[in-house]
Amino acid sequence: MSSANHAAIELDDVWYAYDRSHFVLQGIFLAVAQGSALAIVGHSGSGKTTLLKLINGLLTPSRGLVHLFGNGVNGDAQLNGARARVGYIPQQLGLVRSATAVQNVLVGALPRVGDVASLLGRFPPEEIALATRLLELVGLAGRAGEKVHRLSGGERQRVAIARALMQKPSILLADEFISDLDDETAYEVMDLVEGIHKEGVTLVMVTHDFAMGARYAERAVLLHRGRKVTECKASELRHAESALPP
Ligand SMILES: Nc1ncnc2c1ncn2[C@@H]1O[C@H](COP(=O)(O)OP(=O)(O)O)[C@@H](O)[C@H]1O
Ligand SMILES: [Mg+2]
Repeated sequence: MSSANHAAIELDDVWYAYDRSHFVLQGIFLAVAQGSALAIVGHSGSGKTTLLKLINGLLTPSRGLVHLFGNGVNGDAQLNGARARVGYIPQQLGLVRSATAVQNVLVGALPRVGDVASLLGRFPPEEIALATRLLELVGLAGRAGEKVHRLSGGERQRVAIARALMQKPSILLADEFISDLDDETAYEVMDLVEGIHKEGVTLVMVTHDFAMGARYAERAVLLHRGRKVTECKASELRHAESALPP
């Protein structure tokens, strides 16, 4: 059972290799307190996306354990239940461009609603109402029926946020999903994520932008070539960066 005493996320000596010859994550220990905000920073290829996929159960560690709220998520049987509580905003968003905003948001309800509804494209009215409300929350009132390919970059990020919220997540993982936006829109979208975090959702954001990490996270973890080299206050990130090997 989940418990208030447990960390939201705990990694215990986690290793990961896509192929047997090379561990792209090595010996990662991590504890993310419930309701906190963590930034994961590091150069391209350092293992940030892999780490998020291990947290949400899209990947299973080669060695070591991942716990969410005290429950192990390494067994396949537990995977769906655990993953349902983890809202994930991938770097490439993964929206269906030919579908409408509200159809994309409803994808977040699939763990609850099941495959049959998804095949038929039928969702219970209360789920459609929730999806519509979430689109309003992210500033897309009246755009629910718009096809995603007609939305701007910032609007698409908002749809992806609404889809993650549709999972009713207790943890939100955001993978550099604002990096294609201009600064002003990026901060607007992050303010939205910050508001969600302040409602009590544990936030883990991957970013290469140290200012962004310092502004929106409390703690920071620095990855370098698959190893965690530092964990510090997010406000101390700049010093940590200068300690990195090139
Ligand atoms: N599907 C994959 N198959 C094989 N290697 C991969 C795959 N995805 C990522 N990698 C490798 O794993 C390492 C870490 O990648 P990634 O986690 O995407 O890093 P980051 O998100 O920090 O850029 C890189 O060396 C990358 O090439
Ligand atoms: Mg990445």
